[in-house]
Amino acid sequence: MIKKYEIFKNITLFRFGDPFKTGAVVVDVDQINFKEVKDIYLFDKNVGLDKVVFNKTLSAGDSIYGLGENLGSLNKRGKIYRCYSSDDFLHTPEKEALYGSHPFFIIDGDETVGVFIDSPSEIKIDAGFKDTNLLSIEVSSTDIDLYIFRSKNKIDIIGSFLSLVGTPYIPPKWAFGYQQCRWSYPNRETVESIGNQFRSLDIPCDVIYLDIDYMKDYKVFTVDENKFPDFEDFIAKMLEKGFKIAPIIDPGVKIEDGYEVYEEGKSKGYFCKKENGLDFVGTVWPGATCYPDFANSKVREWWGGLYEEMVKSGICAFWNDMNEPAIFFTPDGLKNFYSLVDKIKEKKDPGFDFFSIKDAVNGLSNKREDYQSFFHNLDDGKVICHDKIHNLYGFFMALATSDGLKKLLGNKRYLLLSRSSYIGAHRFTSIWMGDNQSWWEHIIVNIRMLQSLNMCGFFYTGADIGGFGCNSSAELVIRWSQLGIFSPLFRNHSALGTRNQEPWAFDSATTDIIRDIIKFRYALIPYIYSEYLKSIINSRCLILPVSFVFDDPILKNIEDQFMFGESIMAAPIYTPNSGGRYVTLPDVKWLCWKVKNFDDRDVSIYNPGSYFINCELDETLTFVKENSIVVLTRPQNYVGEKKITELLAVAFVTDRASYMYYDDDGETYDFQKGKFINLNIFIEKSDGDYEVYFNDEESAEYKNDIRTIKFEIYDENGRVFTKIISR
Ligand code: GLC
Repeated sequence: MIKKYEIFKNITLFRFGDPFKTGAVVVDVDQINFKEVKDIYLFDKNVGLDKVVFNKTLSAGDSIYGLGENLGSLNKRGKIYRCYSSDDFLHTPEKEALYGSHPFFIIDGDETVGVFIDSPSEIKIDAGFKDTNLLSIEVSSTDIDLYIFRSKNKIDIIGSFLSLVGTPYIPPKWAFGYQQCRWSYPNRETVESIGNQFRSLDIPCDVIYLDIDYMKDYKVFTVDENKFPDFEDFIAKMLEKGFKIAPIIDPGVKIEDGYEVYEEGKSKGYFCKKENGLDFVGTVWPGATCYPDFANSKVREWWGGLYEEMVKSGICAFWNDMNEPAIFFTPDGLKNFYSLVDKIKEKKDPGFDFFSIKDAVNGLSNKREDYQSFFHNLDDGKVICHDKIHNLYGFFMALATSDGLKKLLGNKRYLLLSRSSYIGAHRFTSIWMGDNQSWWEHIIVNIRMLQSLNMCGFFYTGADIGGFGCNSSAELVIRWSQLGIFSPLFRNHSALGTRNQEPWAFDSATTDIIRDIIKFRYALIPYIYSEYLKSIINSRCLILPVSFVFDDPILKNIEDQFMFGESIMAAPIYTPNSGGRYVTLPDVKWLCWKVKNFDDRDVSIYNPGSYFINCELDETLTFVKENSIVVLTRPQNYVGEKKITELLAVAFVTDRASYMYYDDDGETYDFQKGKFINLNIFIEKSDGDYEVYFNDEESAEYKNDIRTIKFEIYDENGRVFTKIISR
């Protein structure tokens, strides 16, 4: 039976059966009077015993956008995708699923519609792979909420989607600073010396991460005192130098008698169970572990409370990893593997059996059968197989963490990264894009994913800059860091055993270039923070494909340039040894600023069109839209080091431009009580010169420190006009 409800004018919900309440949606749809219907708009459907298949014929010109954290092009057409969260560290193009499950997409063509399938088990989306003209979606459940969004405009569809699933998470302002990570900085001394290097080399940095080796035997919520003596003192000293420390927290709890977290979880029955009632056991970093039953609110509350000691020591940044959840192998899986090997051992000539061993080893990890073999105890007493709600494990873990942090930190904001996620998690956590590789091909993957994840509500996100697996080259880290400037989360991270890739890990010329890149990022923080907050207030993605913003068919398949806020278009370089790239400049004139250093200006003006633009290794291509303004400041060692009293407005104005600069304390939730400023900056061309002024919508609650704005205004001939206003 299908029921239909018009939620808002342009959002229709079709309900199949009795869906699991995922928590993705913030609108309370349970109180409403549904109308029974036979058919659904948009799709042909085929309801089976344990699945529903939705089909839609695609026209030649239809594009499909969205699906969040996924591979494939920006236009998702022509590939199969699978929402079944997976710890897959090799992001090769044929892969169908990564860590997050984000079943929201837009079909854009003859008509433009958004589709969100709220169902937490496996969803396969064939976007015209088997049959070029068919979109076929197989949901492995008959209990589904299917939302359809209608509007001619893709940006409005995303806005409606966000009105349904809630507004994105707001990190502290310092989370827009540069962040350094590595698996693993092994001890206190190393982390301190990393911090000192940043300061002595004059490279800004705000956050340093602790990967799994800070723990005692990988036991979550423990610290190895031998490696990190006097942990509280260590955190305090790093904070004094302007560094936030962000430890990793994995879900797997090591099975070890006497280990408090394990003992408590076990005695209270907080771990996922097998059918026979025993705790489900899988192996991850600590060895044999149990998996907290995050689908249960009591367990989430317990887990959230476990952060207390770390928070007390001054930590307000964490990353939740391995929460698909990752399972390297289970005891049963291993037993079966050994018996296969034993059988093969008996053969004189194993021949091709070698490959079955290889496949069997790979097949041990993250197996569907393992996910089908354990259960969750829900709040209402019902027991549900993990496989049915698999895609929510990371969502619930991050929810446990964020609820815990909100309680422990009160009015102070936190930074949280989660590897796995589901739609709705964007309200309380950010995600990073998992284990990419130091491959050039993964820069363009990063560029596409930033756009697709923004469409699904994950505005604050980013990839491991420089690449996680494999050895990075200096050139790769430089080009990738240039993209990092336009990535809300700008974190350099690399895997155990790979070459170091901190800004100073190569040669001094590379260090100089990366320093300038990071300084430019810091110079842009007033713009980035202002644009981020406004994107949330207006439910409009911070990062948008150019084709969503400008209406020109030529832009349709441009996926390697994107709008970053209202004034900037980024066009990162993502191929090696390139002295530049092709750029399509839509609709208006553009100021092309090749940024070597936030203080130099190498600018030129372009009319709309396609161009090859030269760009040296030490230059970041930054395009400023005609009649728009970018606000900058002098970079600091870390966000908040000094009060910002002066802004620099770099503008490209052929007629008039205005910019609303938003700011707040960057640390608390007081902005919700009106403690923020909107500073309106205006530039108007008149008689071959420019008039500039600004006015405040300063609330009585929040004091604006800005005293001076320096203007650097470029006209259509690239001539610069400078002005200063103070108050
Ligand atoms: C996983 C994470 C990676 C981390 C590693 C060790 O592979 O994705 O970021 O460094 O585990 O904890």
